[in-house]
Amino acid sequence: MESSRLRILLTRKWPKKVEEYLGDHFDVQLNEQDLPMTAVELRAALQDFDVLCPTVTDLLGEEVFGVSPIRTKLIANFGVGYNHIALDSAEQAGIQITNTPGVLTDATAEIAMMLILMSARRAGEGERHLRAGQWSGWRPTHMLSTQVTGKTLGIIGMGRIGTRLARQAHHGFGMQIIYGNRSRAAESVEVELGAEYCSVEEVFERSDFLSLNCPANQETKHLANEQMIRRMKPSAHLINTARGDVVDESALSAALSNREIAGAGLDVYENEPEVTGSLASLEQVVLLPHMGSGTVETREAMGFRAVANIEAFAERSVLPDLVVIH
Ligand code: DGY
Repeated sequence: MESSRLRILLTRKWPKKVEEYLGDHFDVQLNEQDLPMTAVELRAALQDFDVLCPTVTDLLGEEVFGVSPIRTKLIANFGVGYNHIALDSAEQAGIQITNTPGVLTDATAEIAMMLILMSARRAGEGERHLRAGQWSGWRPTHMLSTQVTGKTLGIIGMGRIGTRLARQAHHGFGMQIIYGNRSRAAESVEVELGAEYCSVEEVFERSDFLSLNCPANQETKHLANEQMIRRMKPSAHLINTARGDVVDESALSAALSNREIAGAGLDVYENEPEVTGSLASLEQVVLLPHMGSGTVETREAMGFRAVANIEAFAERSVLPDLVVIH
């Protein structure tokens, strides 16, 4: 396929450098308004474009693929997570899917570490307190919090991001690492991090900080539900930088309100951009607007990773980040 003839749609605004590169090499339609696309627009896009480049805000459910004929042959997702795409429907429509793994590992692990620190050290609450003009000066018992150094970090999902977080936490903060994962990490990783492989239940029970770093799928939906949160220590903090629906937000909100756990740090939500109202009213939860991968360096790298997949597709070569559906 001649690359300049490929019709490509970016569903959201991308970093300028990447948009310019794509504009120089392909027939690309940008989304200057940067508004999320509706299901109707996404359906039309599947009929009009060879390559669709969506993000997490484009809900490509089964019904969206129910159009005919479909022109799209490649969905080059801007992002590593692809739980917003109905994989089976895309496959049935003859569409290949790629994502952008690897390039957002550092940025997302940084945000997870930051949420651990913010939640433990009451950073959001402290800042709100100061900005509201309530700070009356230093005193020995003012805004006491919990130390992070030396505590136990439990990680659910020991993939790239989970492992990077474990490194930062272990080497930087002397944390003990326990983890739950579908399979055991390499022995070298366990030795380097002193990491202990546990059941998911045990990770919930033993962690001082519990970080969710697993992909969103049927197995992990509401993994942190009422029963599992009950297993956590009353002093524990729950951190989620994975996907919103790994946590039952209502159950989390109830557990925090009832002081069953001490705090939470969230970057992702079940129904973004909405946040369960009761959560937003609690002081002991840190809420960020899904910005785990949000550094200039990372977003550009994500864009160019998607470009590498589009170029491979145009050249009929092996797609570097093909999502294997079964
Ligand atoms: C990702 O890459 O999955 C980020 O969460 C943005 O979608």
